[in-house]
Amino acid sequence: MSENAEPTPPTAPPARPVDSTKPSGGGPLDTLNRPLRDLRISVTDRCNFRCTYCMPKEVFGRDYQFLPRAEILTFEEITRLARLFVAHGVRKIRVTGGEPLLRNDLEKLIAMLARVDGLEDLTLTTNGSLLKPRIHALTQAGLQRVTVSLDSLDNDVFKAMNDVDFPVERVLEGIEAAAEAGLAPVKVNMVVKKGVNDDSVLDMALYFRGTGAIVRFIEYMDVGSSNGWRLDDVVPAAEIVKMINAEMPLEPIAPDYRGEVAQRYRYKDGSGEIGVVASVTQPFCGDCTRARLSADGKLYTCLFATKGHDFRALLRAGKTDEEIAAFLRSVWKVRDDRYSELRATATPGLSKVEMSYVGG
Ligand code: GTP
Ligand code: 5AD
Ligand code: SF4
Ligand code: SF4
Repeated sequence: MSENAEPTPPTAPPARPVDSTKPSGGGPLDTLNRPLRDLRISVTDRCNFRCTYCMPKEVFGRDYQFLPRAEILTFEEITRLARLFVAHGVRKIRVTGGEPLLRNDLEKLIAMLARVDGLEDLTLTTNGSLLKPRIHALTQAGLQRVTVSLDSLDNDVFKAMNDVDFPVERVLEGIEAAAEAGLAPVKVNMVVKKGVNDDSVLDMALYFRGTGAIVRFIEYMDVGSSNGWRLDDVVPAAEIVKMINAEMPLEPIAPDYRGEVAQRYRYKDGSGEIGVVASVTQPFCGDCTRARLSADGKLYTCLFATKGHDFRALLRAGKTDEEIAAFLRSVWKVRDDRYSELRATATPGLSKVEMSYVGG
């Protein structure tokens, strides 16, 4: 794959997220009868941003020890696991980080994953800062969709959220390049933090309305142990919908697929759609079919897990596919996670895994 290769125009219809709760085709069910459908793979725990809600500078400073190279799964190891997971029901893979485009040659991994038989949806979550120059190589490698995080259109507010001097304009260029390359609809994730960027909600809705991009307004969550989360910082999704609806009338629409994280709304005048992710005020654990693989090969069965299951140890001990598959089944069968539903009664003080390590 050459970085300079000409882009191929997309021939297939745009990829759609898959129904994550269709019968799992023999894959395992957890203790709450949820199949495994969606795998998020973190390819690096590093990021060039320091979002205050994810990697606050005070914790992720100069001295922070990121994973050493040797501990990170190779592309071959990731692809081998991906194949086993797809054989156990996974239909969608989301590549995440940290910032996944910091991983060298990510296009190679995308190409390897795109060749996994049975995978229906291959997508990437990125902060968009490095996207534009890579978009054609990624598309050619077989990437089907992209989600870009963007918390404000105002450079000062963007900086207050992300703690970097990075121009919003460059992220917008990445989003446009993705849409032009056929990775449509591009989704734009905005984490809303009360008193910091809630004033940017309307601007974002207005800017992306009519462009085909879908903004998802996300309730700020208590992921990890370092962001100092307080319930008071959360703007409930219902308020966000009310705020937008007052200016640009909205109506709810059915989920694209069962178990979809975002609740969808469309503008009544037909100019597009938005989503809200109400994981704090209206948890959706009942349909949660997601697993997360950290860059060092640990599987987390919940975003709020305190402990991962070490697949790298099996890979590097020379275990067979069947032995690794048996481990996967044993992990999934006992899964009973529903942290967001239990948030109010969860044990405080437990050390939860960080989002930058396990991926969004
Ligand atoms: P599509 O496949 O495009 O529908 O995207 P998605 O539903 O997988 O959404 P995405 O990965 O962009 O998730 C949006 C945001 O929702 C994430 O950044 C998280 O903040 C939150 N989120 C995603 N998955 C979970 C989950 O399993 N639990 C909780 N509590 N929040 C989640
Ligand atoms: N709350 C909600 N969403 C978060 N993200 C990261 N940290 C948090 C948090 N504390 C989301 C951002 C980003 C994705 C990778 O994870 O939306 O788009
Ligand atoms: Fe980086 Fe994304 Fe975390 Fe921000 S939310 S620090 S861009 S990984
Ligand atoms: Fe799934 Fe855990 Fe999120 Fe609930 S809190 S939706 S179980 S990842």
